Amino acid sequence: MRTITLSAGQVHMGSLIIVNRDHQCPELLQEMEPLRKTHLQMEGTSSIRLLRRAAVLFTGLMDEIGGWEQIIPVSGYRTLKEQTSIWEDSLAKNGQAFTDAYVAFPGHSEHQTGLALDLGVKSDSIDFLCPDFPDTGICLTFRERAPEYGFIRRYPAGKESVTGIGHEPWHFRYVGTPHGEIMEREKLTLEEYLLFLRNFPYGKRPFLFTKGERQISVSWKKADKNGTTQISVSSRLPYAVSGDNIDGFIITEWRG
Ligand code: DAL
Ligand code: ZN
Repeated sequence: MRTITLSAGQVHMGSLIIVNRDHQCPELLQEMEPLRKTHLQMEGTSSIRLLRRAAVLFTGLMDEIGGWEQIIPVSGYRTLKEQTSIWEDSLAKNGQAFTDAYVAFPGHSEHQTGLALDLGVKSDSIDFLCPDFPDTGICLTFRERAPEYGFIRRYPAGKESVTGIGHEPWHFRYVGTPHGEIMEREKLTLEEYLLFLRNFPYGKRPFLFTKGERQISVSWKKADKNGTTQISVSSRLPYAVSGDNIDGFIITEWRG
């Protein structure tokens, strides 16, 4: 085993950070992460930016399902300035109710993390805010395979009061594996998943997920008040740590 020391700032970093009405996109991340963003260049006119790990998995999924002919990434990483101008434009054109439902308040958009993207079906006229991404054909295939690659439908129908955002079939969020599959299986939004994981304290009673031959444990640990948090992980098996952007860490450990 080896000991890993996590800094207080790491609470606001990682694939599982929550960004919504109550929790804003960490400023720290906005300043630092653009340096590490992959510029995901598509054929033709579309070009979006995503964090490298999200870009790699998205590309892998699109290659696997043969999605490039019909699906186009419409929007990825946005700066605070870009989110502000989208929000102001929508407010002027579409009014308050629509904007509240479909555009996150500047500073509170997942697009600012580089972990979210909007997808549309290729056509001559694509709606930038609400692109068409139906529950049929290649879009349905993408939606069904997305959790395996660590992507979730972030704003499902029926969970509007939980997410604070209207049903957005086009918006996908990278949360990593196996979290996408757990959330899909348990029908949990990111808000609900992070609450759920608090029932599985690190070092005591982890949540166990079986994938093929592998068992994966997921647990949550509150960040220590003194500023650094220590965990101990296997020296030979993979693990991942993400902050929740609230007050703790999610620790994922692949078991032998
Ligand atoms: N459309 C999503 C909610 C955003 O603006 O981040
Ligand atoms: Zn979006």
